[in-house]
Amino acid sequence: MCGIVGYVGPRSAQDVIIGGLRRMEYRGYDSAGIAVVTDSGLAVAKKAGKLANLITELADSPLPPSSHGIGHTRWATHGGPTDGNAHPHASYSGRVAVVHNGIIENFASLRAELEAEGVVFASETDTEVAAQLLGREAEGGAALADAMRTVCGRLEGAFTLVAVDARTPGRIVAARRNSPLVVGVGEGEMFVASDVAAFIEYTREAVELGQDQVVEVTPDGYAVTTFTGEPAPSHPYHIDWDLSAAEKGGYDWFMRKEIFEQPRAVADTLLGRLDAEGNLVLDEIRIDDAELRRVDKIVIVACGTAFYAGLVAKYAIEHWTRVPCEVEIASEFRYRDPIITPTTLVVTISQSGETADTLMAIRHAREQNAKVIAICNTNGATIPRESDAVIYTHAGPEIGVASTKGFTTQIVACYLLGLYLAQVRGTKFGDEIRDLLDELEQIPAKMQQVLDGIDQVAELARRFVGQRSLLFLGRHVGYPVALEGALKLKEISYLHAEGFPAGELKHGPIALVEEGLPIFVVVPPQGRDQLHDKVVSNIQEVRARGALTVVLAEQGDEEARPFADVLIELPHVPTLFQPLVAVIPLQFFACELATLLGHDVDQPRNLAKSVTVE
Ligand code: M6R
Repeated sequence: MCGIVGYVGPRSAQDVIIGGLRRMEYRGYDSAGIAVVTDSGLAVAKKAGKLANLITELADSPLPPSSHGIGHTRWATHGGPTDGNAHPHASYSGRVAVVHNGIIENFASLRAELEAEGVVFASETDTEVAAQLLGREAEGGAALADAMRTVCGRLEGAFTLVAVDARTPGRIVAARRNSPLVVGVGEGEMFVASDVAAFIEYTREAVELGQDQVVEVTPDGYAVTTFTGEPAPSHPYHIDWDLSAAEKGGYDWFMRKEIFEQPRAVADTLLGRLDAEGNLVLDEIRIDDAELRRVDKIVIVACGTAFYAGLVAKYAIEHWTRVPCEVEIASEFRYRDPIITPTTLVVTISQSGETADTLMAIRHAREQNAKVIAICNTNGATIPRESDAVIYTHAGPEIGVASTKGFTTQIVACYLLGLYLAQVRGTKFGDEIRDLLDELEQIPAKMQQVLDGIDQVAELARRFVGQRSLLFLGRHVGYPVALEGALKLKEISYLHAEGFPAGELKHGPIALVEEGLPIFVVVPPQGRDQLHDKVVSNIQEVRARGALTVVLAEQGDEEARPFADVLIELPHVPTLFQPLVAVIPLQFFACELATLLGHDVDQPRNLAKSVTVE
């Protein structure tokens, strides 16, 4: 939540920062602001609402020329989305300006302390205490980096702070605890940001900052220390995607682009996973095979869409490894005192790698001596750094707030992990694993097939424009797909949508069914025990009560066809892999309907892409 950009170098700071904020806006869009350092002090502009409001203001009254400044897009926590609460926040003397991502949990006592000294606050934010504390240190003669270290020592909670001091041109100081921050290393220019997309246009060389570190940045270099001032090692890395990946490339929405990118994203996630002998290799798993053989329970922990990917994975992992697998919502995990032992394997799933609830679950699991494997899409993010091992999904940047390629690549990464465990533990023969991998490798082409026929779904969205409520049903792995279909619709269309296990409907929710209610039903491939037939019966139950059925079934499923008011045909895939193709029409339906309703698909109300507060 909240996007941060800082720049120091020869270019116009306003241009670089506004460009960076455009790419950070997915992190929060309640307000935007910028502060630049000029010969006559700080110049600040900030505006409630989307970045476009700030841009309009700057077009009317541009900031003075400067090559050094900071900017922010906000997802409001403390204080409403007003001009006054927008960042940057300045110290009482107007000398220091700060932007912040996170929550300063002890802000009330710090604010009381400052007010007792006569400091008058200009906002309701927790951030302003950091600005005022830094200002007090700077006025007392401390250099900005020293001031930052002192102030960070007093703050509790989660924060990335980036500050400038009007009396120290050409220098930015930033700090992080439990919240993301990366440094971009250019030639004679430097950047700091919440995410590399902010500066990918200028450099692909980046440096990760560790927990509780402060970085001081000038045009020619950077110095990293701990909060107590000891030099800290830095971790430079090369970003393996470029500007085009962070742009819409002709699509109206990032979400739509990302839906269409799924065949490539899944193919990339599968790439390079076999050795010369055809064995599955997961180079990133730095956990001993002997230790993996001792695992007696797997717990998957994640939030939102990533949680639903975990629900899908459970079916496959238990089936292939015969190890019990639980799936937990990260924000609930540590509060219920879960039974975690050194032989529990905790698998966390997070596209951003910064989700605070998931991060706290990891810390809790590691305190109980469990091993943690992260499934993540963001190189160098906090979650993989704090885990024992990581499997990266290679989806490229996901910018639309509603996750799409994140979901499908997370499922694939979980499957790779499940098959790897089966290989190590000997619960599947090598040829069985290779057969499954062969089937997985065909999935990108099958996904493409679904995308090629997607116009039918656009037509369906037009038909349902007036609906206020929709239901989604599935069984087995189709159940999490139903949940995901409903979540997509809630997030961006703001409609009432719920996903249910198809068999559970008659235990209560069927009372919701009335004439004309659209119900999407994910029908499993034919021939898997009674699974398929049971779902076909469930379709008949709701249809008999007036529901309008949208049936997603595999091509040639003549048993489902008669009960479908609308039939969306899916390519034939094994049951466990069906979510990878079945979810696509549901993602596209939500995107299309939200577009028709005139909503901002990439920046839905009240949401942010990366949820870095608990
Ligand atoms: O970055 P993460 O995968 O950890 O994010 C988890 C959820 O916040 C995320 O999936 C959220 O539910 C999406 N907006 C769903 O589209």
